[in-house]
Amino acid sequence: MNKILITRKLPDEVVKPLKDKFEIKMWHSDDVQMTYEELKSEAKDVQAIWTMLSDKVDRALIESLPNLKVISNLGVGYNNIDVEAAKEHGVIVTNTPGVLTETTADLTFSLLLASARRITEAERDLRAGFWKSRSPMQYTGMDVFGATLGIIGMGRIGEAVARRAKGFDMNVLYHNRTRKIEAEKEFGFTYAELDALLQESDFIVLLTPLTPETKGLIGERELDLMKETATIINVARGGIIDEKALYDALKTNKIWAAGLDVFETEPVPMDNPLLTLPNVTVLPHIGSASVRTRLAMMQMNVEAIEAVFENKEPENRVV
Ligand code: DGY
Repeated sequence: MNKILITRKLPDEVVKPLKDKFEIKMWHSDDVQMTYEELKSEAKDVQAIWTMLSDKVDRALIESLPNLKVISNLGVGYNNIDVEAAKEHGVIVTNTPGVLTETTADLTFSLLLASARRITEAERDLRAGFWKSRSPMQYTGMDVFGATLGIIGMGRIGEAVARRAKGFDMNVLYHNRTRKIEAEKEFGFTYAELDALLQESDFIVLLTPLTPETKGLIGERELDLMKETATIINVARGGIIDEKALYDALKTNKIWAAGLDVFETEPVPMDNPLLTLPNVTVLPHIGSASVRTRLAMMQMNVEAIEAVFENKEPENRVV
């Protein structure tokens, strides 16, 4: 029987269909994640690994697993996996796009609204007993309705965010490797070069994958181009923004606020200086975290693993 390593404890109903066909090794915790060394040792005799975004599957790991046939990653992003090394060694990699598009767009918009209207800051203060009086400029934020939204990375989630923005009468700019001419016509989005988008937008949403080209895409120069009243939202990957440059820009009020669902290091170390700033709204990487969507993503992993061992082409094959 082929063996599967599941790197986090997943709900029984999700794993059950695999039990008749595979020998399952499932990590004991849905909270404490495997270390790299634990992953390496647990994976040594398996044919399939069902990974989470937090599992680093690098070349050394792939090369230490001669029996490995498939890595099925729970998430649309797969920057945690060395896909080139997988390809070279004939290891199939799959991901879970599509089913999470609307859920992630909902979260993106929630974070945008929360950052604009200082919602978590105000709630924190109220709970801590700091609401002693009401004054006219207290907790005043930025208007979303009618503002300009700049989306960097106009894939499926970008389009879903842009559709929501239309309901808020926002002017939508986007920057992408390729123009989306059809969507431009259908929804009235406008293509902009990166610098122009940064200069003109009130809200900037990052939705690009993390690749060598996008690593550090938003640094000091780019933050300097933004309006003093602008807010940046990152729901993609932490490494796309230079966190040190972001901290400096927020601390010195070069930009107005940030909403972050992702960080360079996750889980975020509590000494990350961004956590000290009131104008940063933070979330623990929950873009796709609705019950229905997470179950649908897991179902895609199950189907991909089954397909590989039935010698069928899995849907959502990355390499
Ligand atoms: C993904 O699946 O890559 C997203 O980051 C989920 O939130």
